[in-house]
Amino acid sequence: MTAVTWWIAETTAVGDDEALARDHQIAVRRTPPSTGLYLARDQGRLGLHRADGPRTYPLICDLAAVAAERAPGARQSPLAKACGLTRPTAMHVCDATAGLGRDSVMLAWLGASVTPLERHPVIYLLLHDAWQRLHAGSSYPEWVDRLGAPQSVDAGQWLAGRPVAPIDTIYMDPMFAAARRKAQPQKALAWLGELAGPDMDADDLLAAARQTAAKRVVVKQHARGTPLAPPSHQVKAKAVRFDVYLIG
Ligand SMILES: C[S@@+](CC[C@H](N)C(=O)[O-])C[C@H]1O[C@@H](n2cnc3c(N)ncnc32)[C@H](O)[C@@H]1O
Repeated sequence: MTAVTWWIAETTAVGDDEALARDHQIAVRRTPPSTGLYLARDQGRLGLHRADGPRTYPLICDLAAVAAERAPGARQSPLAKACGLTRPTAMHVCDATAGLGRDSVMLAWLGASVTPLERHPVIYLLLHDAWQRLHAGSSYPEWVDRLGAPQSVDAGQWLAGRPVAPIDTIYMDPMFAAARRKAQPQKALAWLGELAGPDMDADDLLAAARQTAAKRVVVKQHARGTPLAPPSHQVKAKAVRFDVYLIG
């Protein structure tokens, strides 16, 4: 796992961020690092920065921008078809591999109540910061209320604890070892891969998910990837594929 520090300058309001860093075992620095990856706030937004190498923009999670960008056509998208959301339907979806929350946002936008889970501390902090900014305003669109607070937890452990609220659908988008597509992965996906590496335990998570979900488990794969287990059916898109496991 790539080490990440958190640059919190003495001059900024440091209390909450210091507590978050401590809770997630991230080392705090008072001066900007000259090597490696580090977290820092820019105009109130938490971002992941690269201190050395080619100059790049920081990775900042922006959930409202995702909804605005992906909403056109979302109702007939492969994600909506795979999750049974081509019509607004009340359901509880657990996004077991929430990452930067792009799929969680779209599931909430499509009408599901979503519980996002993320186990990597840095990715969780970026997602949680974005979720807090989304809720900071006095008014926001209805889907924002359906997007639950991200939880910093391993989904397998969370499912083993038998969640209180029934879950209709468990959604998984694990990081697979092989490239998802021949072209360079999207920038955000490349950052996630660098931080967390491949999710080698995805088949265990699928097994746990199939024991917990009331209606279905959906696994996002790259288009030519081998299914984790034989699915009930598949929804294919250009670069990715959704393997659907119906329960019962
Ligand atoms: C490919 S990314 C998901 C991207 C996400 N669908 C999005 O829209 O931004 C996979 C993420 O799942 C997380 N993950 C993998 N296995 C997990 C588990 N068992 N519990 C919680 N998070 C997990 C990884 O840390 C990584 O951030």
